[in-house]
Amino acid sequence: MAHTVCITGATSGIGRAYAELAAAAGHDLLVTGRREPQLKELAASLERTHGVHVEVWIGDLATAAAADALAARLEATPDLTVLIHNAGYGHRERFFDTDRTEIRTMGELHMQCAAVLVRSAVPGIRRSAHAGRTVPADRAARGPRGERAGADTDRAPGPLPPGVILVSSLAAFAPMPGPAMYTATKAFLVALGRAIQPELARDGLHSQVLCPGFTHTEFHDRLDWAADRRRDRGIVRWMTARDVAERSLRRYRRRSPHADPVYVPGGWNRLLRALVGIVPRRLYASIARRA
Ligand SMILES: NC(=O)c1ccc[n+]([C@@H]2O[C@H](COP(=O)([O-])OP(=O)(O)OC[C@H]3O[C@@H](n4cnc5c(N)ncnc54)[C@H](OP(=O)(O)O)[C@@H]3O)[C@@H](O)[C@H]2O)c1
Repeated sequence: MAHTVCITGATSGIGRAYAELAAAAGHDLLVTGRREPQLKELAASLERTHGVHVEVWIGDLATAAAADALAARLEATPDLTVLIHNAGYGHRERFFDTDRTEIRTMGELHMQCAAVLVRSAVPGIRRSAHAGRTVPADRAARGPRGERAGADTDRAPGPLPPGVILVSSLAAFAPMPGPAMYTATKAFLVALGRAIQPELARDGLHSQVLCPGFTHTEFHDRLDWAADRRRDRGIVRWMTARDVAERSLRRYRRRSPHADPVYVPGGWNRLLRALVGIVPRRLYASIARRA
């Protein structure tokens, strides 16, 4: 049975972990990024290990031309079943030190590109789900022998139900003056995911807005974070990319398409999110100013 999962930003980190898990579940893949050698190496390894077909798509999704080209590619994929828009990055400069080009670039990748890809992918996902090319949500939510996906089992769970995953961040709930564009663009993804969810659910499509906390990936390499900043401290707990992607897909499979799509992986991260929600506004502002 053909069923393709598209993952943007699959070169490293959380996107790469999603690609490994989706291939292990038997999906063909369309993986994107800017670094061609790493993506080709990933594709060859997944094809060898899992016997699936992996297509590599290279482009800078912070440009409208590339986002449009990938959107057209998705529209031409007849068996598309899941879109995972994961590509993203952080920035070092504080907002008022950031130049206009950088502000636009982050907006393009985290917001415009996300919206354009979802708009282009969903009609095809809907069509192939209805044509029976993808696995119905109920069957996909169970493993090859009918067990609940995510149950304690060594077997890879069955295929993913049709739908969309947007990778946002815990930062979406913690607006901050420093990484202001990052927190604001990630909040956009929460709003977009919640806005489109009723229509997706009406058609039986699943959706998730994943909001990870601190995760060991190349994200913080790009920000030049020293090793001692990348360790657990107080209620700040780091997770691995694999753990984040596994929890995300387990939840995506199990959760009713009608439930709130926002998902924060990890109990400590959920506690952090809850604290941000109840801390008095003035206290929050004075902490955020120093962050
Ligand atoms: N790590 C964390 O602590 C954390 C926490 C919360 C949310 N997140 C989110 O998780 C997502 C994945 O990040 P990660 O932590 O896995 O970091 P990562 O290892 O740096 O991966 C980022 C991915 O995005 C791709 N990408 C970045 N800019 C791109 C562009 N302009 N065009 C196309 N692809 C681009 C990169 O591929 P190329 O370099 O090949 O283009 C790479 O595959 C991001 O959206 C990030 O905001 C991360």
